Amino acid sequence: MSLRYEYAPPYPGSRVDHVGTYKRTLPVSLERMYENALDWEHLPHLHGSSFTAINCLDSGAWGWRAEVTAANGTASVLELALDRDCRRWITRNLQGPNVGAEIWTHVFVTAPRQMDIVIDFFVPGVPDEAREKVGRAYAAAYERLYDEDVWMMSERQAQIDQRLDSIQADQTLTLDMPDEATLPLQIEMSGRRFMLSRHQQQWVVYPAQCPHQLGPLSGDVTAAGEVVCPWHGYRFDVISGDCTHGGHCRFGQRPEINAGEQTLTLSWVSSR
Ligand code: FES
Ligand SMILES: [Fe+2]
Repeated sequence: MSLRYEYAPPYPGSRVDHVGTYKRTLPVSLERMYENALDWEHLPHLHGSSFTAINCLDSGAWGWRAEVTAANGTASVLELALDRDCRRWITRNLQGPNVGAEIWTHVFVTAPRQMDIVIDFFVPGVPDEAREKVGRAYAAAYERLYDEDVWMMSERQAQIDQRLDSIQADQTLTLDMPDEATLPLQIEMSGRRFMLSRHQQQWVVYPAQCPHQLGPLSGDVTAAGEVVCPWHGYRFDVISGDCTHGGHCRFGQRPEINAGEQTLTLSWVSSR
């Protein structure tokens, strides 16, 4: 698909630093979108190909300000200010290579889980003949960021919907002894999904969704016995269930595992 980018030279009286617009329809709710805008923490994890580090200086319901390191090694101070009344947020480059640049994002809700976004890029000091090229580069970067964000927002919405529908009944599940090559293996019990794997000769079971914001924990268990969430990089010890890096959350209730000769039995007793 061609890049969703539009450019028109600034008309007299318009902002002369406007280098173009990116427009896209997203299959997400306003709630998920605001959550995503305020979520500074996911930048170097979900968007690991664009950013390598972030150090938050301030954050709140208003937005956030942070030192951000881009994948090319350059450091900037960015600020995102959310204006709910106007359904928009403005990201400003306060320090760094593109100091003074502003990115204005407006959202137009068109259905309960659908919106159009219009993102305007303003970059000062760009010569007339280079504006379109600079705007196109911004649009290409935003296209990649939104591809990644849409995956996270849609997956989170699906997990929230599934949780609301889930039944908390007692259940016992007996499996033929899994082949280790198939691990980690996803299983479903009482309407919840878990991952079954092994660490240090033991069977381990843990939620398939991260206790932070329901990101997928479907990756391999590391040699240190951890799983890493790709959304914000939180790590969890698969034996203790504690978060070892990133946050204060931990795994909730997990099924019990009993290993027989040929089978594995998992039991879930709903907490009442
Ligand atoms: S959802 Fe945030 S670290 Fe997993
Ligand atoms: Fe994002």
